[in-house]
Amino acid sequence: MNDRLVSGSSQHDERQWEKALRPQNFDEYIGQEELVGNLKVFSAAAAQRAEPMDHVLLSGPPGLGKTTLARIIANEMGAQLHLTSGPAIEKKGDLAGILTNMQPGDVLFIDEIHRLTPTIEENLYPAMEDYRFDIMIGEGAHARSISLDLEPFTLVGATTKTGLLTSPLRDRFGFSARLRYYSNAELERIVSRSAGMLSIDIDQKAAACIGTSARGTPRIANRLLRRVRDFAQVEHDGRITLDVAQKSLARLGVDRLGLDDFDMRLLSTLKATFEERPVGLETLAAALGEDAHTIEDVYEPYLIQEGLLMRTPRGRMLTARGKSYVDADRTSS
Ligand code: ADE
Repeated sequence: MNDRLVSGSSQHDERQWEKALRPQNFDEYIGQEELVGNLKVFSAAAAQRAEPMDHVLLSGPPGLGKTTLARIIANEMGAQLHLTSGPAIEKKGDLAGILTNMQPGDVLFIDEIHRLTPTIEENLYPAMEDYRFDIMIGEGAHARSISLDLEPFTLVGATTKTGLLTSPLRDRFGFSARLRYYSNAELERIVSRSAGMLSIDIDQKAAACIGTSARGTPRIANRLLRRVRDFAQVEHDGRITLDVAQKSLARLGVDRLGLDDFDMRLLSTLKATFEERPVGLETLAAALGEDAHTIEDVYEPYLIQEGLLMRTPRGRMLTARGKSYVDADRTSS
């Protein structure tokens, strides 16, 4: 579902768009101030010592800037960024290939690092600790292990679920941080910055309105800006005013908290089908016809942060605010 409001062919455009708007250095980055401040110090200190920066673990919901931060770290260190993901590293040889291709000081970004297989994870430990990769040569009685020296590098691991990381892996990161949802003011600045970079004519109030509807997530803010620009261009005079933004967001089925049709279906299913009793994730997923992981990683965190839904030991439940939100939606539609 990471692809709210986007499908198939336009994903390529979306990536190009994201690429163009991405902040290139720490000073251009809006939000996550404490984390960015810390990363700035760690990268500057490492650069002064002519060492790679210590390994970093970034966690949090999708779209909050984990890849962007890895790219900035690489830029600031004057190094190359190598991108891969947990599920893409299937065999030991895949990992060996990636690690032996790195230049001194390069940054390796492993997305969804909680999805590495146990074998791959074990092979990553000596690489992280001693820049060493152990391989077996020969077979049977003649088999022996040799150690390849790797260039010093920085691993940036990203995960939506820190809880699923094994503690030996977690312990090998010198610094871990959780990205938080962006404030409405930060999202307004991000929308204004993106509009400025793309020469989109937008009123401040419209930028604020799009920001507020972006469920705390820059990727969604930029995506909404792109859709609203389409409406402004085709059905209005091209300028994004508050009125144009509000009408376009309504057409996109995005409400004042940034909730879309699926969020509302999730909340009203909890209320109507399960009569406000706690319900297990799998049961909820089956009722909604959506993958349980997607519900847990993508939809729920924002609903929880907005105080609409809670996770209890007996299952998911609506909060009082969640109930009144569903009731208000019913009466208004
Ligand atoms: N575009 C996407 N995320 C951003 C951020 N955090 N700061 C500035 N521009 C962005």
